[in-house]
Amino acid sequence: MKIAVLPGDGIGIEIVAEAVKVLNALDLPLQMETALVGGAAYEAHGHPLPDSTLQLAKASDAILFGAVGDWKYDKLDRPLRPEQAILGLRKNLGLFANFRPAICYEQLVDASSLKPELVSGLDILIIRELTGDIYFGQPRGRRIATDGHFPGAEEAFDTMRYSKPEIERIAHVAFQAARKRNKRVTSVDKANVLETFQLWKDVMTEVGLQYPDVALDHMYVDNAAMQLVKAPKRFDVVVTGNMFGDILSDEASMLTGSIGMLPSASLNASNQGLYEPSHGSAPDIAGKGIANPLATILSAAMMLRFSLNQEAAALRVEAAVKKVLDQGLRTGDIYSAGTTRVTTVEMGNAVVRAL
Ligand code: IPM
Ligand code: MG
Repeated sequence: MKIAVLPGDGIGIEIVAEAVKVLNALDLPLQMETALVGGAAYEAHGHPLPDSTLQLAKASDAILFGAVGDWKYDKLDRPLRPEQAILGLRKNLGLFANFRPAICYEQLVDASSLKPELVSGLDILIIRELTGDIYFGQPRGRRIATDGHFPGAEEAFDTMRYSKPEIERIAHVAFQAARKRNKRVTSVDKANVLETFQLWKDVMTEVGLQYPDVALDHMYVDNAAMQLVKAPKRFDVVVTGNMFGDILSDEASMLTGSIGMLPSASLNASNQGLYEPSHGSAPDIAGKGIANPLATILSAAMMLRFSLNQEAAALRVEAAVKKVLDQGLRTGDIYSAGTTRVTTVEMGNAVVRAL
């Protein structure tokens, strides 16, 4: 089982190290190879996604990814910015299906910014389409050179688009995921304003006919944003486009107590996957040893489950995470009175001990 390990920038380096430690403790025949990505790769090779890194990713069964980005790259031409590395990996590997589960661990109910009764027992799954939408339309603006020159800052635009097959395949992913859960899908759109999302809604409805056992409802994205903090437990599977999914998954993460708890999996049609925490590189706390490695460790568990077919090992990792939470160990982001504050490395070590 071959894993490409791409720590990236900022806290990515610290949290991936802990996840690798956990994977090594499992005693599985895992072959891990590390490569540079994001700002780190730009510094070394002049490009955020060097060909060597892309080839390694393509040749692996799974990719364990940390995070990319730093404010110091904000002035670079867009194609050279660290974020292009993750977008390039998603596009080049066809990783169209992004799973972002938001589960509120009982031990962290008090760490959520919402009232305990709203989040206790919460278990929702956001499925975000990841290779289409406005993220991959035609951009034009100040930081995109066209014909070798910058067109100036008077106007900028990005085009939003989806094709029917793109919507169909993510719809199937969502309905199939719902079948293994509570059999409810909420499709989030903005069909009242955008043609792209009228098509989205129509195709979701059409595909839904093939899943009569799954209840489908449609919700506008503004309402969905509100419902997520008003009554989040009403959701089971939420399926939406790239842009809305980006925003709603950050919102949902706070229901769980901290974005530092939210793992993610991005899969292609052959179950090859990229696994990363849903949070970013957090340059403000990088190098301080205080970042929460649990989202990355839980992402590694998803990797074992989805791409490496090691369900038993995935369950072991998830149980170990619950155990360290039961022991009261908390990084700063999930700390509350009466618990024990630990560093990134101490948290990783505790998960290994729990295993
Ligand atoms: C995410 C991130 C990325 C995105 C950035 C880093 C490009 O916010 O994975 O949610 O917008 O998809
Ligand atoms: Mg995001």
